[in-house]
Amino acid sequence: MASTVDRMNRRTFLTGIAAIASASPDDPHFPRYHFRPPKNWMNDPNGLIYWNGEYHMFYQYNPNAAYWGDMHWGHAVSTDLMHWKPLPLALYPDKPYDKDGVFSGCAVVHDGVPTLVYTGTNPERQCVATTSNNLREFHKIDQNPVISAPPMEVTGFRDPCLWKEGDEWLMALGGGFPDVGGAVLLYSSKDLVSWRYLHPLCQGKNSKTGHNWECPNFFPLGDRHVLLVSAEPFQKVLYFIGRYENRRFTPESEGVFDAGGSLYAPQTFLDKDGRRTLIGWLTEPRSKEESVKAGWSGVQSLPRVLTLRKDRTLGVEPHPNVRTVREPWSKRGAQVEFEATTAKADLYLGSEVLPIEYAGGSLTVANRSAPMKLAAGEPLRLNVFVDHSVVEIFANGRVAMALRVYPAKTGPVRLDAPGAKVTAYQVPNTVEYD
Ligand code: FRU
Repeated sequence: MASTVDRMNRRTFLTGIAAIASASPDDPHFPRYHFRPPKNWMNDPNGLIYWNGEYHMFYQYNPNAAYWGDMHWGHAVSTDLMHWKPLPLALYPDKPYDKDGVFSGCAVVHDGVPTLVYTGTNPERQCVATTSNNLREFHKIDQNPVISAPPMEVTGFRDPCLWKEGDEWLMALGGGFPDVGGAVLLYSSKDLVSWRYLHPLCQGKNSKTGHNWECPNFFPLGDRHVLLVSAEPFQKVLYFIGRYENRRFTPESEGVFDAGGSLYAPQTFLDKDGRRTLIGWLTEPRSKEESVKAGWSGVQSLPRVLTLRKDRTLGVEPHPNVRTVREPWSKRGAQVEFEATTAKADLYLGSEVLPIEYAGGSLTVANRSAPMKLAAGEPLRLNVFVDHSVVEIFANGRVAMALRVYPAKTGPVRLDAPGAKVTAYQVPNTVEYD
């Protein structure tokens, strides 16, 4: 039986869906084929999982305002990672151990039961919720919190990422050591309830990689392992590629994942065909006041597939399902995918223009640059997605950059690449709001 607070929140959320169905066509910046709930604040994707024919995406959500606070887990389902249907909120901050916020976490299947593992606040501690009825019902377990305090002084203690080794669960937790730098703590458990702290899985340096690592994501890729962390204070996603031996991770190379300046707190999981698939939160450059006025903030990226390339660098491409929704271009609207083979192009978005250029070993979009080494004679292949205020650019299976753009005057969207063939497709609305 839902509590009064639960029912109120549920009602607010569903009213929001109804409101947007009529109001949002007037908002030229509201994305239409990237997922976000109809209104209010959203941040990190949580608990990405494929279960019984459906993809579930949970997400950090404030049901009552277009700014961060009062964190709940929102919930949406999809059969193809593109068409999303919002569902009622999944987790509420309604227990003594999570009353100040249900923070980020993951979903795993334990003993055949899809189970959510998240951080309750405040203070930060780790909690478990089992699910039933195809992830439509959620039950916080009586033993919560399952990890009630950090083993030493830390800068953060949150965002569990779990995987299985034999009959043991391993948990990577984000945080850092004061005056040292960001770190990931490693725990093990057989039953998700009783956890043992092992040691740091990996540790960085304050000056180089930030003082606190949020949202660690750790997974095998090809013959290596990859660790993604969202590093404070830089607000950047760092990736490390390296070796995982004796339950310690030693990076061999590293870089910034997505230099577009918007993607943060990504999470990966395996899609139904075993592809390592990533979705990340695309943050807003708008002020709190502007977000409140608009009534919404935050959107999720397109699903991306990660691979380890032959030279052991990270490969990144749009998930193949992204292409299955596009339609022939009919010269309308701000929902477009462009394909072009060209070293230089200008993306016109109403009153804004974003220059895109490959030169000197970098791909530059407006004032953002990502290192990229094309082989001699290898042309630059661009895929540019525009969804109102969202721009995602992919190049040669190697670089992805997400940006947010709010043109003062909306108008025709076009990619100019003199001398090159540009193919445009229209992308329909993919989120079902009522
Ligand atoms: C990252 C983050 C997480 C935390 C969540 C709270 O954006 O700060 O570390 O769990 O957001 O909303």
